[in-house]
Amino acid sequence: MSESLQSILGAETLAAFEAEGPLFSGLPGAAYTSEAFLALENERIFTDSWVFAGFAHELPRAGDVAPATVAGRPLLLVRDAELRVRAFHNVCRHRNLKLVDAPGNAGRAIRCPYHSWTYGLDGTLHVTPYFGGSEPRAVPPGFDRGRHGLVPVRSATWYDWIFVNLNGAAAALEEFLAPLRNRLEGIDLTRLHHIATIDFGEVAANWKLILENFIEPYHVQFVHATTTEQPLTDHYTVNDSGCLGCAVDVSGEATRGDTLSADSRYLTLFPNFVFGLYFPDQIGVQLNVPRAPDRTLQRRAIYSLGPESRLNACAEQLVKLWSGVHAEDHAMLERLQQGRASELAAGGGVLSPVWEDAVRSFQERVVSGLG
Ligand SMILES: [Fe+2]
Repeated sequence: MSESLQSILGAETLAAFEAEGPLFSGLPGAAYTSEAFLALENERIFTDSWVFAGFAHELPRAGDVAPATVAGRPLLLVRDAELRVRAFHNVCRHRNLKLVDAPGNAGRAIRCPYHSWTYGLDGTLHVTPYFGGSEPRAVPPGFDRGRHGLVPVRSATWYDWIFVNLNGAAAALEEFLAPLRNRLEGIDLTRLHHIATIDFGEVAANWKLILENFIEPYHVQFVHATTTEQPLTDHYTVNDSGCLGCAVDVSGEATRGDTLSADSRYLTLFPNFVFGLYFPDQIGVQLNVPRAPDRTLQRRAIYSLGPESRLNACAEQLVKLWSGVHAEDHAMLERLQQGRASELAAGGGVLSPVWEDAVRSFQERVVSGLG
């Protein structure tokens, strides 16, 4: 059992965070630096919720497999014979070896490299060679292969995005997605076309700092002065129960040169689905996977809407633009993380009631998800 929220953050610090305005404090620093806090997040938030775990287009063919990590656990994503994506615990039922450690195609069966236990794409255990003796099919008395298949994890795919719910108790995925869908204003996601993915590797910052940075528009004019033309005054925050983020309407200005200047929606679903919509036809989705309190793996997939989109010929340019935008954010995120080594960060700083109200809501979701 993990430590409680109160024992990790301290009762007084937690009470200061929970105190009502006029100004709100941010989350206490330990929420971003403590191993115990991440363990609690893994045990509760990343176990109870629908968690974004992977991209379906990376598993196009039957037999394609890819490892994923959710709540610190090794999971396995599989495209089965009916072309459905399934999720399992990525652990052989024999000696609990991590079964698949790199994306690839397993053919019709997933074989453990250690003793060749072999599972079907539906998780059924088919082969356990010599387990019961010197005959290939021998099994010991009392052993039933039917009881040692891969253990499934509840999963569902929405367009290109694979979600899993480890404890199986979250509300239906449709319900989880509804607040985002309500914000998509007639966008037709059936036209989704993957253009490129940028793998940023490890960002030296806590996953929550990445989400908070995406949610708030306050930094854009300062941090992204050269990569974007989106004045702060054109922004507003999105603070629905269920969908947090911000948006900008730039009054119809056209994209100029290599900068981003378009009406945009920066939307998140708690805890980790990050969805950017850049009118008229660009979408970006981030997969952020916590590795440690101060380290998060990050990838960004870039999409267009429609096969005829002019974006489809601009992969290189888009990768360059978004690599630049993320590099600007990473520099700030790593310094946000470093600042949390100071005792001054225990109080969590102070949030703008205008531009960081949705950040506050995100932080309140974290605290309520751990209580
Ligand atoms: Fe940013």
